[in-house]
Amino acid sequence: MVIKEKIEKRKQICCIGAGYVGGPTMAVIALNCPDYDITVVDINKKRIKSWNGDIEKLPIYEPGLSEIVHKTRNKNLFFSNQVDQAIKKAEIIFMAVNTPTKQEGEGKGMATDLSFVEDCAKRIAMNSESNKIIVEKSTAPLGTAMRISEILQTNKMPINFEVISNPEFLAEGTAINDLQYPDRVLIGGEETKNGNRAVEKIADIYRNWVSDDKIITTNLWSSELSKLASNAFLAQRISSINSLSVLCDVTGANIKQVSRAIGADSRIGDKFLEASVGFGGSCFKKDILNLVYLCKFYGLDEVSEYWHQVVKINLYQKNRFVSRIIENLDNNIRNKKITILGWAFKKNTNDTRESAAIDVSTRLLKKGAKITVYDPMVSKESIIYDIKENFKDQMTSKFLSKIKFSDNILSAAKDSDCIAILTEWDEFKSIDWSKVSKNTSSLFIADGRNILDSEQIKNSVDKYISVGNSKF
Ligand code: NAD
Ligand code: UDX
Repeated sequence: MVIKEKIEKRKQICCIGAGYVGGPTMAVIALNCPDYDITVVDINKKRIKSWNGDIEKLPIYEPGLSEIVHKTRNKNLFFSNQVDQAIKKAEIIFMAVNTPTKQEGEGKGMATDLSFVEDCAKRIAMNSESNKIIVEKSTAPLGTAMRISEILQTNKMPINFEVISNPEFLAEGTAINDLQYPDRVLIGGEETKNGNRAVEKIADIYRNWVSDDKIITTNLWSSELSKLASNAFLAQRISSINSLSVLCDVTGANIKQVSRAIGADSRIGDKFLEASVGFGGSCFKKDILNLVYLCKFYGLDEVSEYWHQVVKINLYQKNRFVSRIIENLDNNIRNKKITILGWAFKKNTNDTRESAAIDVSTRLLKKGAKITVYDPMVSKESIIYDIKENFKDQMTSKFLSKIKFSDNILSAAKDSDCIAILTEWDEFKSIDWSKVSKNTSSLFIADGRNILDSEQIKNSVDKYISVGNSKF
């Protein structure tokens, strides 16, 4: 009896969405908050099965994640497909579902598709029998919290819903560290008595491991905008440095030197100034396009165009990289073998969404090249999925027949006409190029991540191009 009462008193959190945000975020909350029971639910049965399966094969690869899941799973962290049941018993419900760019209808290609968020809100409305705090963890356009509130009002029971915005700032590959030691936790709520109380309840969760000075509270609109703006600022820095890399390539400047000189100014700082083949990931492009769309919606065309340029430069950078490969292969890549080293959008993740490798490979295939891919963490199935998605119905099978997969660098690089480095995996930084060159007639490296030492590499390869260093 005593035990039963104790169990009933435990605070119940539900998180809808067991993806790259829901999984790691709830694992870290579970680790730091032993008084809470956390149930992460998803409609994707395969994903939940995998969260409950072999600890070494969780659906998401993040350094440090499996250790935390190992400590908390089935103690105060649970993964389940029973969405309605978890909603019913929770006092606090995080929504960490996907918010992709709309593929059809008004705002197609720019605005955010809120259907997953709206489906969750409807499900919460249908299944709630007690007061609940709904936490918008997903990145969503301004006004989404109000839209969620509207949907929740369809529940006619005498209960209270408070909607809070608590955007997530983790970056993949460093998610656990970012969650354990966040720069800030942002919590936005309605400026009412109930709103303030709900904000405090969410802040109390984080206070278990985050100091008060890092917890920022705002109104709902500011919180929603701050998330979009943070991503836009980060991506803007990459597009800014990438735009300068173009100038470096046509002059004698070296982007690494320029980057270092700019970043040494403490007002600017040295982060996010690494020139590359272009940024990828599920967030930057979609969130900036969302911002662009919102500005347009409010008639702010100049502001909209300003941010749009960040995405346009990114596409330009990826295309430019492909063009430079083709130029260096005598403007003809038909049936030439190009080795793609790295498919993930950055190192230390198995996520490939919007990875530069997808666009670069698609363009190379369309120009007639054959490609062989090696990535230490991304499965062959994921790569095939990405290619199919990118080509849609345009003769996918023809292009798929031109892709090979390899489980090691040496075999991937054998007889290659060009080796393109597209992810900055550590193992690519220390390749023994003399071994690679034994199996190629001429060794041409296109370093899309500037990870190799250009001075050293020129002695062991026939041709080397990087981003923003015209000398090579
Ligand atoms: P994800 O696609 O990995 O995970 C979302 C999950 O939600 C999926 O498993 C999906 O099956 C599930 N889902 C969708 N609708 C559902 C429903 N009605 N009921 C139950 N489950 C449902 O996405 P993600 O990368 O975790 O991103 C989630 C949100 O967090 C997005 O809004 C994204 O912009 C934001 N975000 C992502 C990152 C990141 O690095 N990935 C960082 C910060 C913020
Ligand atoms: C980003 C934000 O950093 C994070 O705060 C937000 O919550 C989600 O979106 P993420 O996309 O996971 O995180 O990774 P990030 O480290 O930001 O890298 C995004 C892309 O930019 C990667 O392709 C990365 O390789 C590229 N990048 C990053 C550069 O090209 N140059 C840089 O200097 C930094």
